[in-house]
Amino acid sequence: MQESDLHNLALAQRQPSTPPLHVAIIMDGNGRWATVRGLARVAGHRRGALAVRRVVEAAPKLGVGTLTLYAFSSDNWQRPPLEVAALMHLFHEYLRKETAECAANGIRIGVIGRRDRLGPILRREIEAAERATARGRALLLRIAVDYSARDAILRAARRLKPGRETTREEFSGLLANTIHSPACPDVDLLIRTGGEQRLSDFLLWECAYAELYFSQRMWPDFEAADLQAALDAFHSRERRFGTVLEAAAG
Ligand code: IPE
Ligand code: IPE
Ligand code: MG
Repeated sequence: MQESDLHNLALAQRQPSTPPLHVAIIMDGNGRWATVRGLARVAGHRRGALAVRRVVEAAPKLGVGTLTLYAFSSDNWQRPPLEVAALMHLFHEYLRKETAECAANGIRIGVIGRRDRLGPILRREIEAAERATARGRALLLRIAVDYSARDAILRAARRLKPGRETTREEFSGLLANTIHSPACPDVDLLIRTGGEQRLSDFLLWECAYAELYFSQRMWPDFEAADLQAALDAFHSRERRFGTVLEAAAG
């Protein structure tokens, strides 16, 4: 590639008007939200589900084409059984209640992660939600459940053909396939709520050049305006993808 092409590529990639964006969110802080109010942690998860509704509704209007939400990590199986059961129940309820509205609003649901450790009824609900919303083009809503980025990379790597060169793009496709995801671009913006600043094994490959945004807001308090604020911050940044932009190149 010519040097000028590289500059143009970098410029094109940083244009604020380059929709649709892939935004990923680590929805953290449900437990603390509940604890400071003297409530059980599960109450925080329940309120967190309402925040999901708000953000899913706002995302397509804000130029988001893919929204990936971290709902349950593979390490979250280590939580107390009652909390795990409540989270699975809430997820099931979300799919049951929201699928029809998502289908009506052009929102395609895709659940990413492992499926073999989920209950058969939940698995069937996932398949039904994916089927019912498969034609949606306004937003790809990926919900990460029993998800671990490192496990996903390992499982994809095991499927590589020995002795054959694999490109990054091919590996991305293999990885998406491994986690049952429809094809989508890499993450542009990664948001984590709840004040912690870590990745907790989320989308390690897909976030190679993601902009990172950390919010103090606990997830149940997250509003459309907070998503807007994160996107404003994103658009004010200069993404360089390892190159030097034209103005600086001289
Ligand atoms: C995020 O909130 C939801 C899940 C991990 C399922 P947490 O439950 O981690 O809330 P905090 O971090 O303990 O406050
Ligand atoms: C990450 O949050 C997982 C989800 C938000 C689903 P955790 O609360 O589990 O992560 P750690 O334990 O703080 O790293
Ligand atoms: Mg947490």
